[in-house]
Parts: sequence; structure tokens; C-alpha cells
Amino acid sequence: MTGKNWKVFNPSGARRVVVTKALPGDRWLDILARADARVEYGIETRILSVDEIAAAIGKRCDGAIGQLTESWREALFSALSAAGGAVYSNYAVGHDNVDLDAATQRGIPVGNTPGVLTEATAEMAVALTFAAARRIPEADAYLRSGKYEGWLPTLFLGEMLSRKTVGVIGAGRIGAEYAKMMVEGFKMDLVYFDTNPNPALENHIREFSTFLIAQGEAPVNVTCASDVEEVLQQADVVSLHPPLDETTRHLVDEKRLDLMKKNAVLVNTARGPVVDEAALVVHCKKNPDFRAGLDVFEEEPEMKAGLNTLQNVVVAPHIASATRWTREAMATLAASNVAAIFRGWPVSTDPSRIPEFLEHPAPRAAPSIVNAKELGLPTL
Ligand code: GLV
Ligand code: GLV
Repeated sequence: MTGKNWKVFNPSGARRVVVTKALPGDRWLDILARADARVEYGIETRILSVDEIAAAIGKRCDGAIGQLTESWREALFSALSAAGGAVYSNYAVGHDNVDLDAATQRGIPVGNTPGVLTEATAEMAVALTFAAARRIPEADAYLRSGKYEGWLPTLFLGEMLSRKTVGVIGAGRIGAEYAKMMVEGFKMDLVYFDTNPNPALENHIREFSTFLIAQGEAPVNVTCASDVEEVLQQADVVSLHPPLDETTRHLVDEKRLDLMKKNAVLVNTARGPVVDEAALVVHCKKNPDFRAGLDVFEEEPEMKAGLNTLQNVVVAPHIASATRWTREAMATLAASNVAAIFRGWPVSTDPSRIPEFLEHPAPRAAPSIVNAKELGLPTL
């Protein structure tokens, strides 16, 4: 049983679900209650250790919802399995904190929450892009500290991005959305790299270019780069959107930072370890006109030494998906994953159907189970 730092919803539910943090909204609670679950959720703000989560799982637990800050690997999946657990859902689209093999070996389906973070995360990447390029936090601190003596021709000069080149590394849903926002909003050329090229994105941008020409404006170009280096060399702003895995850890390192323009902007809303953060600190010190906008860090909640005091770096505490709509939708999807497995429903494999799961009534299926294929689960 969980203790004083936990709350209980639907105490008479026959199934027991442990949710490591309170989630926003209340639809997720209703979805779990309708699947006859007693829900125990953590109300502490600090990150729980593996031992604390294992203790919460206890002797009997039918399912769990956890956070991207938690290490869901051998230890937790063996605790969940021993407690009779049938399903786990990450409250996140990314699942680098989850050892999928450890779950699959124990027959535990792992859910995630794709699709509903796309626009929120892309909007945050745009916000960080301009906060960095136009030095907004620096200027804000200057004004508040009483240093402003009046308008000056040279005060806080930054970079204009309209009609320049935007670079995107990782052109999945979020990267493609960011690319479109930047190209359509600021008429930038796009150079992108992805191990899976995105022809739909390229086509979209060509159509937009045709529209611009019809308006009597200059066209925009799209280039699918043959490597990461090409993007870094050409772009005035580079936004990172790959998933974190062994192929993308320190994807942007000292050598690659050196390829970037001296006044470029680097944005990371993906995962901290995609950038060698210590190398970035050195690079930003050496190149005062270089700017970075970071929502994620290598060792959250810590920042690497020196980052905290750099004027040319804008930081945010991993809040790219933090809009009320998105976070409630993530809760709905995570709860729906768990409830659907309890009920023996099939798994939806079509990401374009995600919005249906936010409607009433929702499909009788799990919205997204990452290891559905490995487990041979029935699909919708
Ligand atoms: C947030 O970072 C997520 O992966 O959902
Ligand atoms: C974001 O929502 C994604 O699924 O890529």
C-alpha cells in the first residue's frame, strides 16, 4: 500500500493502478475507474527513486503509469511483473527511459502518448528560437534590473531569421511541424536531415513555394541533406528533433558545433543527451554571437557547469509539451492504454487515429503500445 504522499481515487476498484505523479484534468481518472481500477497516484513533486516506485507497486499492482524522469528498466518491470502487472504506460511520447526488452520479456505492453505533443512542442521550439535570436530573457533581466536608460541604436542587437535558412535534424511529426511553422511563418529555406526522409514535408514546402510565387514573392527551397554536417553548415537556426537512442547520443558534439555559423541558433526540445552539453558550454563561451535555446538537459534537473551563467543561452525546465490541452490529452492517452489492455481490447497502430481517442466515445482500443508487435497483440 502507498502512504501519505499518495492519493486514492475510486478506492473500491477491483484492479490496482499506480500512477507515479498526479496528472492534469480528471478524464484519465474516469477512464481508469470505468476499467474497474482503484487509482493510487503520487503527489510529491520530486523525482521518485526506483526503490520508492517498487515499494508503491508493492505485492499487487495490475498496471502503472510512469514519468520520463523515472528509470523503467529491469528492476521496475520485474517488480511490476511479480505484482501481477499487465501493462505500463509512459506519460510521454519519448520512451528512452524505458527498457522495452525488459518489459517485452515479461509480457508487459508499454504505452506512450504520441501525436498530442506535436504542435505544443513545435511551438515551444519556435519560442526558444526567437527568445535566443532576439535575446529576450537577457533583455528582460536588463530592464527589470533598472539598467535601461533609454532607447539606443545598439541595444541588444540580435539576428533576423526571415528569409534565412532553418535546419531541422529529425523530421518526424514534431520536427516537420516546426519546419512548417518556420518556413510558412518566416519564409525560410529548409535544410533537414533524417535517416527516413520525409517526402510529405518536402512536398508541402514545394506547394507553399508555388503559392509564394503566385503572390509575386520569392520562392522558398527545401533540401534533404545527406548528412547532419550539411544541415549544421548551412542553417542559421538548427532545431533538434530525433528520438534519443545510441545513434543520437551526443549527435551534436564539439566537432559538429564548430561546423555551425558563428551567429547560428541551436534549439533542443528533444532530449538533453542529444547535445554534448559540456562542449556546448565551451562553444558558447568562445562564440558570444552563437545562441542556444534549451528545454532539455543531459542530467535533468541539473545543468552542466557554466551553462547557468551564459548570457547567450536561453533555458526552460522541460516544458515544451506543457500546455493544458496537451498534458490532459497525454493523460487521456496514457490511461486509455492501461484501460484497453485490462479490457482485452486491440491496439491501434494508425497514428492518424490518435485524435479519436480524445473524443466521446473513444475507440475500443489502446491508442499506442510501443511493443505491440513484439508481443503479438491483436491490432485494430
Ligand atoms: C516529453 O518530453 C515527452 O517525450 O513526452
Ligand atoms: C509528438 O506528438 C509525436 O508523436 O512525435
